[in-house]
Amino acid sequence: MAAFTREFELESQNLVLNLHQNVDGDVSCVVWDAALVLAGFLDCENKRQNGFLKGKSIVELGAGVGCVALTAAALGANAIATDLPAVIPLIEKNVEANTDAILQSGGTCTARVLDWAEKSFDYIQTDYILLADCVYYEQSIEPLISILQMFSDENTTIFLSQEVRDYSFKQIKFWEDFQEMLAKYFRVSKINRERQHPYFYSDDILLLELKLKGNTEN
Ligand SMILES: C[S@@+](CC[C@H](N)C(=O)[O-])C[C@H]1O[C@@H](n2cnc3c(N)ncnc32)[C@H](O)[C@@H]1O
Repeated sequence: MAAFTREFELESQNLVLNLHQNVDGDVSCVVWDAALVLAGFLDCENKRQNGFLKGKSIVELGAGVGCVALTAAALGANAIATDLPAVIPLIEKNVEANTDAILQSGGTCTARVLDWAEKSFDYIQTDYILLADCVYYEQSIEPLISILQMFSDENTTIFLSQEVRDYSFKQIKFWEDFQEMLAKYFRVSKINRERQHPYFYSDDILLLELKLKGNTEN
């Protein structure tokens, strides 16, 4: 299968990640802009608080080629990049391609199947959950919210980026429904322009920080 590589510079670590993408395939085979915004934000955050991900556990949902999980691993995290079974070989290829960058920071990255549509999966205890551009079809909304709830406790931080495509009325509706449901269970804050990467930023891409609400919050 024809492949092409995207380089992603991590300024805070002075290194470059090489992300293999496939020419043919579905939505999982390229890096989406929302992933670059989230990865760029992690890089900026690491400049502000050096080593903030070192030794932290991270799960990425719908990782695609693995840009966000690999960024976290190259910042020292123990990352698990999850996606559908067919996507795992591409993530593994990218983990392999970036072994030096990951080793240099003391992080780790593994690929694991996690299909949101499955009714049961192993619980993963994690400090952070990351997801980029995962809210784009109706059937995913409830399972995604359930997984976020299931993998979170009061100490878990979730960073979520989402491109809001104004040419797709359906996707806007899914995104609004998702946000409404999200607000029932999570405290949601928007990460403002100043905290984001100066280049990997777009008015069309929302970057949110989420924390599970306590029992007494509504
Ligand atoms: C638009 S792509 C975003 C990929 C990556 N996060 C990025 O931003 O570059 C959506 C991702 O969600 C994954 N996905 C879709 N449905 C899924 C499901 N039921 N379970 C797990 N992953 C799923 C796709 O395989 C794909 O990798």
